[in-house]
Amino acid sequence: MTVQVTQIVGGQWGDEGKGKIVDLLVKEERYGVVVRYNGGNNAGHTVVVGDKKYPLHLLPSGVLHPHVKNVLAAGVVIDPIWFAKELAGLAQRGIDTTKISLLISERAHLILPWHRLLDGVQGGKIGTTGKGIGPCYSDRALRVGLRVGDLIDRKGRVDVEGFSRKFHHLAREKGRVLTEIYGCEAMETEKELAEILKCAEKMAPYVGRAEENLSNWYEEGETILYEGAQGSLLDCDWGSYPFVTSSSVGLSGALAGAGRDISPERRIAIVKAYTTRVGEGPFVSELGDYQRVKKEETEPISDLTQEERRSAIEGDDLWMGRWLRSVGCEYGTTTGRPRRCGWLDLVAVKHAVSCFGLTEIALTKLDVLVDLPKLYLCVAYDLEGERIEHVPSRLEDLEKCKPIYEECSGFEAWKEVSSWEELPAKAKDYLQKIEAYLEIPVKILSVGPKRSESILFD
Ligand code: IMP
Repeated sequence: MTVQVTQIVGGQWGDEGKGKIVDLLVKEERYGVVVRYNGGNNAGHTVVVGDKKYPLHLLPSGVLHPHVKNVLAAGVVIDPIWFAKELAGLAQRGIDTTKISLLISERAHLILPWHRLLDGVQGGKIGTTGKGIGPCYSDRALRVGLRVGDLIDRKGRVDVEGFSRKFHHLAREKGRVLTEIYGCEAMETEKELAEILKCAEKMAPYVGRAEENLSNWYEEGETILYEGAQGSLLDCDWGSYPFVTSSSVGLSGALAGAGRDISPERRIAIVKAYTTRVGEGPFVSELGDYQRVKKEETEPISDLTQEERRSAIEGDDLWMGRWLRSVGCEYGTTTGRPRRCGWLDLVAVKHAVSCFGLTEIALTKLDVLVDLPKLYLCVAYDLEGERIEHVPSRLEDLEKCKPIYEECSGFEAWKEVSSWEELPAKAKDYLQKIEAYLEIPVKILSVGPKRSESILFD
């Protein structure tokens, strides 16, 4: 079903496989425009086409399709050095970057060197990606940030003089905070500035009046896909605050971040068949102990041995968490950190569905769960003896919640599935339980990383 405007939103803590779903929708349903409206290069999408993997962080997932117009809208925060690096990475993988249709909003804020450094010293407690996201959004709110339009003028020229003046002014002020308050070494201001100006030349051809263009395309009847970054539980207001990112992930983020009142009729929650989280913060259905995971897993773990699998099946949560991590390759695309793993927390997903008015589900990574004798769905929380079915907003309460599970039968592995009928009966049961709890239908099912390993239901 193609409607004119669709939004995809991560229904959990990010890493749900949004890149693949955007890529699939663009191919199968021929969306003409893909818009990123929030976050920056803290996101990490891996799109697999044929045998090739394309890791994307900042660029919209539509860049792999020559017919798609891509937009980095005003609500995105852009690190010019990263931008140039990501573009060069695509060129190295054989993508003709001169053919990419991309428009960057002049209003988008720039991530500058002090944002990354401040994130390094302030973001530890949250376990941020360290990309400077929070400090950049803070400067936007304080109205001291620099925007793409400060770096590149309306004629597409790099404003060396004007930008350097503003950069030096801020560098002095931020440099003092870094050295005097946080005891950091002095920034290499001139080197950083020269690098930004060099990378700005790579950005310049893409900068323009993104919001006006988006509006015109909409009027002309183009189909538009809003690509939300991060996940609902990382939303600055509705997530597990303060262990969240600094942008709005849902509908309001799309409307504010894309700059025009173009409301998506179809809002797809991308939901992984189990739950993962990176960084700190409460995780009710977690399997295993994050502090141990952090310490013990400095390298990705390979397949579990028979004995380790037996321990997992017999109820050792640490090994079950590792099973999911190893089979699901749950290591951060952006930071390489081991992701915390747990059973599917439906209470958290339902929270996302109701906060953001999500209308359907794309369920990903169901294949990771094959060959487990039993699966568990978290259907409620136990908060000091009280059964609740909502996500408490108080951190102290959320931290005390224990999962209440519904047990489901596991399902066997399959060779290939391309329709609902071909799924094992017990996998169908698992999906139907999810639909019944969330009260919205599963419309897309992903059973592997490739585009071809997906089922679209009518
Ligand atoms: P920040 O967005 O770098 O400020 O990080 C804030 C929190 O969001 C941390 O827990 C990060 O691990 C998490 N986070 C940010 N972006 C993503 C993402 O794309 N996937 C998963 N977690 C993310």
